[in-house]
Amino acid sequence: MRRFVYPLFLWFICIEAVCVWAQEQLGGEHAPQVPYVPTPHAVVEEMLRLAKVTPDDVLYDLGCGDGRIVIAAAQRFGARGVGVDINPQRISEAQANAQQAGVTDRVQFLQQDLFATDLHAATVVTLYLLPTVNLQLRSILLEQLKPGSRVVSHEFHMDDWRPDRTVRVGDHKIYLWVIPAQVAGDWVSPQPCPPDLQPCTLHLTQQFQQVGGVLRIEGREIPLMNVALSGDRFRFVVLPRERLWLTFSAQVDGDTMTGYVEIEEATTTYRQPWVARRQHSSV
Ligand SMILES: C[S@@+](CC[C@H](N)C(=O)[O-])C[C@H]1O[C@@H](n2cnc3c(N)ncnc32)[C@H](O)[C@@H]1O
Repeated sequence: MRRFVYPLFLWFICIEAVCVWAQEQLGGEHAPQVPYVPTPHAVVEEMLRLAKVTPDDVLYDLGCGDGRIVIAAAQRFGARGVGVDINPQRISEAQANAQQAGVTDRVQFLQQDLFATDLHAATVVTLYLLPTVNLQLRSILLEQLKPGSRVVSHEFHMDDWRPDRTVRVGDHKIYLWVIPAQVAGDWVSPQPCPPDLQPCTLHLTQQFQQVGGVLRIEGREIPLMNVALSGDRFRFVVLPRERLWLTFSAQVDGDTMTGYVEIEEATTTYRQPWVARRQHSSV
């Protein structure tokens, strides 16, 4: 075990030391926080596959180096892309590479600090940075990206924000996160809950994409089961009594959930539309 852990630990220390040195040498907040190490092409391909990049996507690579991820997204998957790098030499290389690949109509490269980059237009963000930088970026990604947007990081994770998927390519690790909709709070359905049409409310707690909670019917609290939140798609199962299954599936849009509930009782199954609205406390 030590054989693997010590070299890895030393590698992290060296990378951090190089960053500190580079920051001191170049001075100030605009110095690169991360040294330039390009992602191998096979790993780039897998990152884009994992994010399921399509021509509808706008991909941002934060710290884009020679632009290979943005260029591959445009060339191989038809996406549009923006690469951001603090180092002017990297930006010149990226622009020359885009020209050579014939994708200058779909990509642009900006020389700027990744922390000063507005990410609201991005549907996919790729990273090959450092654990500390990923952590600094985490709240920005969760705040600026729309639910369902994907974040893919080569090699480094996001601490207690667990990835939705992890893939290995040789010695390289790739992590995928899907930006979750914000669902925490109390939700009230204007129409009563099936099958007995009792008024019901939904109480949800959330940490990133992990959601738990209860459905309150007639003063009873029924725990939610099989809860799944992926982007804006939300699903859970409730068993109000024996042999009665209610499966709720909804799309979350701000303070409204719209979908349906599937009711399975004994041998019959049927569906009913379902809508819920988040209550805002007046306190
Ligand atoms: C490990 S390389 C990754 C390059 C590319 N994304 C890839 O995967 O091939 C990190 C890149 O981040 C850039 N960088 C470091 N600090 C930055 C900052 N504060 N803002 C923008 N780019 C930065 C470096 O210049 C370098 O090109």
